[in-house]
Order: sequence, then structure tokens, then C-alpha cells
Amino acid sequence: MCGIVAGVAGRDIVPVLLEGLKRLEYRGYDSCGVAVQQGGVLRRTRSTARVAELAHQVAQDGVAGGTGIAHTRWATHGAPAEHNAHPHFSGDRIALVHNGIIENHEELRAELQGRGFEFASQTDTEVIAHLVNYLYEGDLFEAVQRATARLRGAYAIAVFCRDEPQRVVGAREGSPLVLGLGDGESFLASDAMALAGVTDQIVYLEEGDVVDLQPGKSWISARQGDGSHRPVQREVRTVHAHSGAAELGPYRHYMQKEIFEQPRAIADTLEGIEGVNPEIFGAGATAVFKDVRQVLILACGTSYYAGSTAKYWLESVARIPTSVEIASEYRYRDSVPDPHTLVVTISQSGETADTIAALKHARSLGMEQTLTICNVATSAMVRECRFAFLTHAGVEIGVASTKAFTTQLVGLFLLTLSLAKVRGQLSAGQEAEHVRQLRHLPAAVQAVLALEPQVIAWSEEFASKENALFLGRGLHYPVALEGALKLKEISYIHAEAYPAGELKHGPLALVTAAMPVVTVAPNDQLLEKLKSNLQEVRARGGELFVFADGDTRIASAPGTHVIRMPEHYGVLSPILHVVPLQLLAYHTACARGTDVDKPRNLAKSVTVE
Ligand code: M6R
Repeated sequence: MCGIVAGVAGRDIVPVLLEGLKRLEYRGYDSCGVAVQQGGVLRRTRSTARVAELAHQVAQDGVAGGTGIAHTRWATHGAPAEHNAHPHFSGDRIALVHNGIIENHEELRAELQGRGFEFASQTDTEVIAHLVNYLYEGDLFEAVQRATARLRGAYAIAVFCRDEPQRVVGAREGSPLVLGLGDGESFLASDAMALAGVTDQIVYLEEGDVVDLQPGKSWISARQGDGSHRPVQREVRTVHAHSGAAELGPYRHYMQKEIFEQPRAIADTLEGIEGVNPEIFGAGATAVFKDVRQVLILACGTSYYAGSTAKYWLESVARIPTSVEIASEYRYRDSVPDPHTLVVTISQSGETADTIAALKHARSLGMEQTLTICNVATSAMVRECRFAFLTHAGVEIGVASTKAFTTQLVGLFLLTLSLAKVRGQLSAGQEAEHVRQLRHLPAAVQAVLALEPQVIAWSEEFASKENALFLGRGLHYPVALEGALKLKEISYIHAEAYPAGELKHGPLALVTAAMPVVTVAPNDQLLEKLKSNLQEVRARGGELFVFADGDTRIASAPGTHVIRMPEHYGVLSPILHVVPLQLLAYHTACARGTDVDKPRNLAKSVTVE
């Protein structure tokens, strides 16, 4: 999603800005731009093409300067067109970039139009540029403090003014922004990763902060309860951010690479785990886990499906009541809070706006025990939660989440075992067996990856379809949901998932020979029920594609295609069964020629509501 890079230095800042934008590209965007102070005037170049093309245009336009701001935009208000791309100018004085959504932009726009400001875009961002210009009385830092007091919604901004050539001001509320401290130069970015190679001295700005950047100097002010600002010192951290520019190696796409990295990612996530110890979630977790009466999981997208899988584990293994909520729904509904709840957020990026807002909502309801399963150590989610378990998936670049999902499941299973242990639900023998199975997972996933050629053969048939149904039961229903999400987001085939028993209550009406029905068939206690559901599909001429455990006795026949899973894996089976579904989505998308790593309309890091 949108990305900001900005800085002020005694050298041409444009190469730093463009390199930062490249590092943020994986988050998804549909236009980009850069603006600098150059010889006392504001100069900018904007593009609806990729950052590489922007760099080419910038060089052609001769845009260069020591003070500048840059942006990748993921459209919310206004089409992805050049006139809506950031930076936005207010007259010839103010240049501004923004991430987030300004909820009161319509009333501000009307007010500013009434004061004579002319708008050149349909964006909510342009109102901030004009507002800063309107409130500017010779001090940009003060103007931004006053302007942000008028904004409702979420924002991270970076702004400069023609009249103060060596100054950039930033501010944040609800959208991430970091300050980078260089040698005689200062930077802003929406993610420390954008500044990798430039500086590792990072300050995570807090809600309501406004920051003043000058070459090698910076000041932060924090907003007080009464809306006024006072100077504040924030901790400087040394952050060894990944560059994000991972090599593809022998793979065609990052998604394929990330699918094949899963054995390594799971092994890294399990590094050092010899037994079940709640303190891996943070000091004091044992006491908190003993005290909780229920678990509330908050997440979005694939992370929500990881949480939905964990509900089965938490209730059957740890015997603790668990609810799983889509973060964007939970924050707006009246729920019944219990202070003895362990609130668990799940997020690959740790920056998903809906999940962060849901977490804050849960806390505002008096649920203080918070834990996150997250892939980014420096993220807002890790900073906001009392306890954290870091998945070691490594940087995930493909928009479609793969290795993040399987490593989240590993973290969630460790949470299940920890809660089971402190609640007296785990014998020493059970603990040893579960840990043994976890440690064997990398090898088991490796064996599943060897199914790729068989999956490729199926994907050629799928590529010509426009619809698909995914079925699973029990623990594997969330796996079916995840398989359908993967297929729809990268191949644009309409895919829906159902618990197989629900088919006859409506979706069976869709089944014809043109509707492939993908089924996850582990050998568990629901197998015979599932087989009956598959018969219902065959009886209506539906074509079945089944990923079946070897001992299920589901065999290939006309209209029934079967790929055998190498191992039956009991309660951890979802971690294996999701892998061929990832491969099916990937190869189907390749066969359809879509932009696998950057599917249309989607962003990797969803930092707006
Ligand atoms: O970074 P998060 O895990 O919080 O992201 C949540 C969703 O946006 C994400 O899982 C999304 O659904 C993926 N594109 C799915 O592949």
C-alpha cells in the first residue's frame, strides 16, 4: 500500500528517494512520484508506471535537490491517474505526500474552496496540502501542528515548503512513519526497510507526533490531550532492516520462491524450541496464560484463516473457548468483553490498519492481555502487544501470503500447546509427541512440494475456468477458504469455499461439469462424511480435484482426479494440505498470464482502513 520516503541532506536526495520507493514497491501501488526543492522552486515528476519508469522520467526532467519527498500511491479517493498521484502541491509553496484516509476531507475541501484554493485532484490528500498552506505563517513545523489538529482519520505525511528550503516536516496518526537519522542528513519513511543502506538509526514515531527534519538534526513534538504539542524525546533504535530486494534465484516469481521456502521458514520459526514453554511469548506469559478464560483472535485475510484454524486447536487441545473475528468487523460491533481474555492478533506485516485498530478497540474494552503472532519484529503490532511470537518466515514479497501462513500456524500451535500445558491439558507424553511432529514438519512440507508437477498438470485445466468451489471439513475448512482466496487473488478466477456438509444447503445448485470442485481430504474422523459429500457432487456431474491422504481410499476415476498427500499428519495436517492449494493457485495464475506477485487492485501491506 502507499509508501513514503522523504529527506533533507547536503547532497542530491533523489537517488535515495527512488531507491526507497523501490524497496517499498512490493507493498503494491498504482502510481508514484517525487518532488524536490530546486533553485527556489518546487519540481515534481509523477507517473502511473513503475518506479523504474519514474526514475527514467526524473532523470530526463533533471529533477534534483537536497530536500525532497516521494510516494507510491494505492488509490482510495480518485482513480489511479497522474493528476491524483502524490506529491500534491498547494500553489507554488507547499509539497506534500500522504498515506492513510482523511475522513473529513469533504468538509475541509468545501471550506478551502470557499477560501479560494483550487483543487487539481480528487484525492483526500490535496486538502492537507492546502490546509498547511492556508495555516502557514512562516514556520512549517507550526503550520503542520495546526493543520493536523483539524484532520480526522489516519495519516502519515511528509511536507516541505518553498520558503524553508532545508526543512521537511512529518506527522503521523494511525499510519506508520519512521524517522531515520543519518550523518548530517535526516529521513522519513513509512518503513525502516525503505532506508536500508542509508541509515540503521531509526525512531518509530508515535500517534500524534510531528517531526521537524533539517540536515543532521530533528525535533519531535507529541500531541497532548488538549491538542497542544510539547517537545519529546523518542528512543533511537538500531534496526537492521532487510532490503526487501531478495533475489529470485531459480524461481519465476517471488510467490513461487516463497512457497518453496516454507520448509526453511518453518525450521527457522521452530529454532531453539525443544519443549513447550509459554515464556517464548514473553516474560510473564505463564502467569497470564493461567489466568485467561478465553481467547479472542483478531486478524484479516490469510491471517484470519490461520486464526480460524487455530480455533480448532485451541478448543480441542487446550480446551479453551476461542472466538475468531475479522478485525474490520470486530472494531465496529458491540461485543461482550471479558477482562480474562487473551487477545491474539495475527499479522504478517504487523502494520495492517484494521487489525491494529481492532487491537486498540479490544484494549479500550478492558482486555489488557494482548499477544501477537507477527513476522516483522519492528512493526507496530509487536510494539503495541504485551506478548509476541515472531515467525521467521523472512521478507514476504508476493502479495499472496504463503510462507507467512504456514509459519503463523506453527506459532499458533505453540500457543495452543502452551495454553494446554498451563491448564493441565497436556501430558508429558503428548508434549513430546507434538514437539516431535513439529520438528518433522520441514521434511514433511518438502515432500508435499515434490507434488508440483502433478499440480501443474491440473492447473492447465483450471486456467480455462471462471469459477471454482473449494470444500473442506472441520480443521480443513479454513484451509479450503485459504485455497479459494489464493486462487481468486492471483488468477482472478471466482472461487468460494464451503464446509462440505453445507453444500446441499445451497451451493450444490452451482455444480455442473464446468465447475471444478477442489477438496481437501485428510484421513480424520470426518472422512466418511466428506466422501458422502463428494458423491453428492459426482451425482450432479461435478468434476472433483481431491488432495487426499494416502490412507483415505479415495481413488482416481472418471470425473474424480486425486493427488495423494505423502503423509498423514493428524492435527498438524492443515500445514501440509494448504501447500498444494498454494501451488495450484500459483500455476493457474501463471497459465493465465496474470501479474502473480502484484495482482491487480491489491497491496501487500494494507495500512488504510
Ligand atoms: O499483514 P497481514 O497478515 O495483517 O495482512 C492481512 C491480509 O491483508 C493478507 O493476509 C491478505 O489477505 C493477503 N493478500 C492474502 O494472500
